[in-house]
Amino acid sequence: MDIEKLLGELTISEKCALLVGADAWHTIAIPRLGIPSIMMADGPHGLRKQLESGNSIEIQESYQAVCFPAEVTVASSFDPELAFQMGEGIAKECLNKDVQVLLGPGMNIKRSPLCGRNFEYYSEDPVVSGEMGAAFVRGLQSKNVGACLKHFALNSQESYRMISDSVADERAFLEIYTQAFRRALQENPAMVMCSYNKVNGVYASENPVLLDDVLRKKFGYQGVVVSDWTAVNRRPKALKATLDLEMPGYVYSVHQLEKAVRHGIVSVEEIDASVRRILALVESKSANRIEDFDLADNHALARRIAEGSIVLLKNDEQILPLAPTDKVALIGRLARETRYQGGGSSHINPFQVDSLLDRMPPEADCQYAEGYTLQGDGWDEKLLAEAQALATGADKVIVVVGLTDEYESEGYDRRHLNLPRGHQALVEAACAVNANVIVVLQIGSPVLMPWKDDVKAIVNAYLLGEAGAGALADVLYGKVNPSGRLAETFPAHLEEAPWWGHYALGNGEVHYQESVYVGYRYYSSAKIPTLFPFGYGLSYTRFEYSDLTLDRDILRVPGAVSVSVRVRNTGDRFGKEVVQLYIENNQDRQFKPAIELKQFKKIALAPGEETIVRFQLTEADFQYFEPAIKMFVSDSGDYTVQIRKDAETLLLSAPLRLENPGQKDYAMNFMKAESYRICG
Ligand code: GLC
Repeated sequence: MDIEKLLGELTISEKCALLVGADAWHTIAIPRLGIPSIMMADGPHGLRKQLESGNSIEIQESYQAVCFPAEVTVASSFDPELAFQMGEGIAKECLNKDVQVLLGPGMNIKRSPLCGRNFEYYSEDPVVSGEMGAAFVRGLQSKNVGACLKHFALNSQESYRMISDSVADERAFLEIYTQAFRRALQENPAMVMCSYNKVNGVYASENPVLLDDVLRKKFGYQGVVVSDWTAVNRRPKALKATLDLEMPGYVYSVHQLEKAVRHGIVSVEEIDASVRRILALVESKSANRIEDFDLADNHALARRIAEGSIVLLKNDEQILPLAPTDKVALIGRLARETRYQGGGSSHINPFQVDSLLDRMPPEADCQYAEGYTLQGDGWDEKLLAEAQALATGADKVIVVVGLTDEYESEGYDRRHLNLPRGHQALVEAACAVNANVIVVLQIGSPVLMPWKDDVKAIVNAYLLGEAGAGALADVLYGKVNPSGRLAETFPAHLEEAPWWGHYALGNGEVHYQESVYVGYRYYSSAKIPTLFPFGYGLSYTRFEYSDLTLDRDILRVPGAVSVSVRVRNTGDRFGKEVVQLYIENNQDRQFKPAIELKQFKKIALAPGEETIVRFQLTEADFQYFEPAIKMFVSDSGDYTVQIRKDAETLLLSAPLRLENPGQKDYAMNFMKAESYRICG
């Protein structure tokens, strides 16, 4: 495709038509010039390609596809390799269904656990979100299926998402909410999708500072920027902000662009810049061919990903793993009707949904009772009594509870962190008659657990995808040793949250007053205990850490410091561990979170085996954004390198001094500070 030649041959009407969708899912084709259309379809945890009859943005029936674990679940694996394999697997289904771009991954940072769409995002932490998202993009694009990072930016709530205004300071914007996008952009994703909301007063879809100054000039993105569906307000204004493609397609928008060109509001050069990016994308996918694919292969892959993502939160008296001889009462309707994904545009028409009841080992002595209904809050006196009676005589009780689509979904936020009343009651009823209660959670975001001290074990299965029940059964009976870690904080009390009182308010401004103090960055700085901290997760084995070593005690910028730590499996089972490297910040010159995760590595060790885990720290790991001079900078001073089990458990630490000779120049830069502001 000779793009420059095509630009000379395309009429202005054809060019404008290329910048607006042909329908709900396709770009327009220009047959006379041999320009094909390409198709986009939702993700992010599976392929949601609507039937041809459903060419509408309303959620319609879609083709069967494998529903993988949700992003929140995969993030808990802390294993980018699994995210890569998930992207690669979904790409095979895209090729099979002639889809060229998957609308995923979701890259928004979890400002609050109340966000109805948190299940579709990775983490509260930019490092975890960035690494997992980048790996997913690599996997997807390894088969030449385009990825689309979404939703850029500050789309932290579902309430009033079409009209609310996310107002954040520059440090929060650049250090927290766009940092994961910046990491994933290094994989050169085919598209970036703008969000619905305003960013500091200007709709994202027509925000030149957000899309041009920051995304393109500061972050260096040269690909296609697409709107969220119906997010464009004024097409000419969006084009001038460098938004290339409005989705879905409205002919009115084509006419708006043509008129804007005629009136000189939009230049042909501006039109051509976007057409060039669209044609480059179309050309890059033109070699894709429909390939056969067996969904069963991805079903097996989805199960493997689930195995690595389940988080063991409590296991008193080593009640888990279960023995097949245990007389088990399995109670809770979600054990039979799995909640395996969230609601909204990501909802997959699954290939084969497994349930825990079906996947319990055939030799297991297990009886089942419903316990609650899946309507409303689930409360049902009769079902509750039947389940409690079954629990009374059992050796151990597995209570499966969680959130239903009524409680969390795209399109609305939660108002509290409670489980549905009927689910809560079932846990309490089981605890009243049996001392050996194991709770399994099927949730897309944190919940409160007032019964935490009354149960012996808690397994957080999150949303495990269609094949996750088999992985869950394997964890419960010990065929798989759980190795997930929380990629988000489970708060003990909602009112202690940093955003409390200014989250998802009315349809006006939502002020991110907590700035960079998001998630564990807040709780660790304010020393507020949580229900379960970021990075937390147990294993059926034990790991011992020793010999934290730095190859120098002064990092002179622009050098690097090598960090190593010895980890040994001191238990009697094979297991995987997530080694977490944090920095305790120096705050002599600027406020910063007390600690920040900088790198992590997941390792596998046989019983008695040990390994040395190595990291490299450079100035980038110490930088923050200095608004006064509009630059990322690092402060000379004393820091601490920390190996942590989780955000609340310090294992090993070592002092490190950072010396940055460039710092003295900052004062000079104060006068030369760049003039741009993050919008407004
Ligand atoms: C939705 C979502 C977006 C999705 C798009 C197409 O409103 O916000 O994530 O990809 O529309 O369904």
